[in-house]
Amino acid sequence: MAFRVLGVCGSARAQSYSSRAAALALEAARGHGAETRLLELGELRLPTYNPDEGFAQHEGLRAATDAVNWADAFLLASPDYHGSMSGALKNFLDFYWEEFAGKLFGYVCASHEKGLTVMDQMRTAVRQCYGWSLPYGVSVHGEQDFAAAGRVTNDQLARRLRMLGRDLVVYGSLLRGQFAADLSDAAAETFAARYRA
Ligand SMILES: Cc1cc2nc3c(=O)[nH]c(=O)nc-3n(C[C@H](O)[C@H](O)[C@H](O)COP(=O)(O)O)c2cc1C
Repeated sequence: MAFRVLGVCGSARAQSYSSRAAALALEAARGHGAETRLLELGELRLPTYNPDEGFAQHEGLRAATDAVNWADAFLLASPDYHGSMSGALKNFLDFYWEEFAGKLFGYVCASHEKGLTVMDQMRTAVRQCYGWSLPYGVSVHGEQDFAAAGRVTNDQLARRLRMLGRDLVVYGSLLRGQFAADLSDAAAETFAARYRA
């Protein structure tokens, strides 16, 4: 079965730079044999998370949960809003927890200031859910890195996005494979033991 990478885009802008960058990284992941999907949170319009509510009837949330359960690895893409990830992306993350354990995450941020604090926040939320993170993220400066028609004009950025797509598949497969093996090995002392059925 092909390795499955889910992109999650936290900008509601129609021509979002973070979303375009994520799409390029996912294209590279497909080039390395992965299946990919892209969730545009601006289209799904998830309800604001409330632990007291199940939201069972919410179509967008059902679609998001199906995609999360489908995924072997994730690519989170956010605009930089006040040095933070977008509220839409944080709200998406709040709905899940154990679903992220043992899976690899990569990060893209559209920012005028490299978005390091944004990617640190995404990384912290993922770590809290026992997910793994790639040791780098990719920052895009929309107005400088993209032409008006949407094409990337910065070759170094294009290379980094291809690297991100490749690394998510290659390192993600290794981690997922080991996590699955640890789940089924009752004797192994590992953090995966907590997730055994
Ligand atoms: C509410 C708001 C807050 C922002 N805060 C920052 C910021 O703190 N630092 C920054 O570099 N850019 C900031 N920006 C600019 C966006 O990060 C930038 O336009 C980015 O390209 C948007 O991503 P998108 O194209 O994926 O929607 C802000 C934009 C908005 C609308």
